[in-house]
Amino acid sequence: MPPEPIIAHESRSKALATVYRYHDGTKHHFDQFARSLGYLDWASQPRPFRGFTDGPVFPLYPAPGVAANKYAPHRATFDQACECDVAAHSLGAAAIGDLLRHALGLSAWKRFNTSRWSLRVNPSSGNLHPTEAYVIVGALPGLADRPAAYHYAPDRHVLELRCLFDEGVWKRAFGGRGESVLVALTSIHWREAWKYGERAFRYCQHDLGHAIAAISIAARLVGWRAGLLPAWSHRAIAALTGIDRDQDFIDAEREEPGCIMAVTAGEPLDCAHEQVRELVDAVRRGQWSGRASQLSEDHVTWSFIDNVARATEDPGRSSALAVRLGAHHQRARHDRQIDARALLLQRRSALAFDGQTTIDRVTFFEMLWHVLPGSRTPWPSLWWDPRVHLAIFVHRVEELPRGLYLLLRDRHVFARLRAACQPDFLWEAVDDALPLWCLARFDTRTLAGRVSCNQDIAADGFFSAGMLGDFDASLQTFGPSFYRHLFWETGIVGQVLYLEAEAAGARATGIGCFYDDPMHDVLGLRGHAFQSLYHFTVGRPVEDARLTTGPGYAWEKTA
Ligand SMILES: Cc1cc2nc3c(=O)[nH]c(=O)nc-3n(C[C@H](O)[C@H](O)[C@H](O)COP(=O)(O)O)c2cc1C
Repeated sequence: MPPEPIIAHESRSKALATVYRYHDGTKHHFDQFARSLGYLDWASQPRPFRGFTDGPVFPLYPAPGVAANKYAPHRATFDQACECDVAAHSLGAAAIGDLLRHALGLSAWKRFNTSRWSLRVNPSSGNLHPTEAYVIVGALPGLADRPAAYHYAPDRHVLELRCLFDEGVWKRAFGGRGESVLVALTSIHWREAWKYGERAFRYCQHDLGHAIAAISIAARLVGWRAGLLPAWSHRAIAALTGIDRDQDFIDAEREEPGCIMAVTAGEPLDCAHEQVRELVDAVRRGQWSGRASQLSEDHVTWSFIDNVARATEDPGRSSALAVRLGAHHQRARHDRQIDARALLLQRRSALAFDGQTTIDRVTFFEMLWHVLPGSRTPWPSLWWDPRVHLAIFVHRVEELPRGLYLLLRDRHVFARLRAACQPDFLWEAVDDALPLWCLARFDTRTLAGRVSCNQDIAADGFFSAGMLGDFDASLQTFGPSFYRHLFWETGIVGQVLYLEAEAAGARATGIGCFYDDPMHDVLGLRGHAFQSLYHFTVGRPVEDARLTTGPGYAWEKTA
């Protein structure tokens, strides 16, 4: 069966033109930031959590009084989890709760004077959290007694029932293929646009990438595998999650389809167009409940975002296009014996670095190994080969001179990237095995801070990096919707770096605010062959002693 028609209203070339217009139009320049209100309108600040009212709610494990149905979580170290060394639990509501708690749940409540705000396991630009998650699963004890679609509400760690649908369709789709759950992610653009204006669409995609990685890693805690399903079009995701239902979103901000992942205790799962169609038909005939809550009473319309969202609408693609990643040898030198759940919950963004501490070369290289594609989670969750490479400002790595380095996550790009960069670079291989080149030796600190919107965190750590997307070629190969995937990949790389930093006793911070073309100038890049899409920094944090920290949920003790 053919996929749904590709982009209803715009030809591919028109859609691509919109993508380039949006991308260039939302760059930060030294003398001008991308368009936003320029101030924070506190009266319209979005509420931090969305809920669906008037529908049944299912509390999830781990929480007091929630039946664990004999579920006793396997203890897992971080390296065991990433290297797929955890025995699979059988599918159940408690294991789903365990997964969601450690992927998208609340990691802490912070307090300063009278202000109190939550943090989540997955990071988000400005802590605005545009990403919403939906779970689609068969009948399970502790959940509905029929296949259903649910919304995950992280504030209460509950699933809110959205739709009950036909058992036969679910069984035909997934019955004979191991135990499976679908997790769909959507974005509420308004959450980010409220603060960041037109650049917000990019941030929503970064955040989605972080969430994809968070789900992939948390799935390994229960011994399951997660993989993105390319066959699902945005329209199909919208139907499955019910975000296309006008009647459930009266006065509520609409959600934009993102992606869908199969999380399975058995073999990695694919989805044919026929199954997608059947499931969509089943939920359309299903019994729906719940109404989306409103986040703000007033809104500003950012039509540039609406335009790029339409231009990058994903028509779904044949799974035959899928490239599962080749394996780099990525095992940690040894199992670092770090409790995986504790590590996921302790991840934070650094607010400042001490500007002094160094990292040893071996630990630094190990971090870089783990962002290379291969068998280590989350990389097998992606269906495309790597499109993002790292231009690294090395500030404080022992036995490595300060300078500008390049980590190629796909060696095939070497000749093209070298030709695209300015001709004076050294291109000295740094290591026999790691695909890392030294381009220039100099004191990188001032320049790194400058290109990251003058943020000290980009200069005061061990290193900071610009993530270079293989832009033109990727959009030509996969079409305009892949603009989103490029940002997802940067978010996934970022999530790995966040966790590797924590594992090394350090801390990281994602940097969405950077000067785009000045970063390109550092490398001598012209045109759009490669574009810096996300910046990142790792170092030794300086804590803000004025903030107090409480547990994510009332039932958890403070660490
Ligand atoms: C896509 C993205 C962009 C970010 N950009 C910046 C930035 O430019 N500067 C900064 O200090 N923090 C930045 N952050 C960090 C967020 O502010 C942080 O994730 C958020 O406040 C939640 O805190 P947590 O990461 O400790 O959970 C960014 C995070 C993400 C995911």
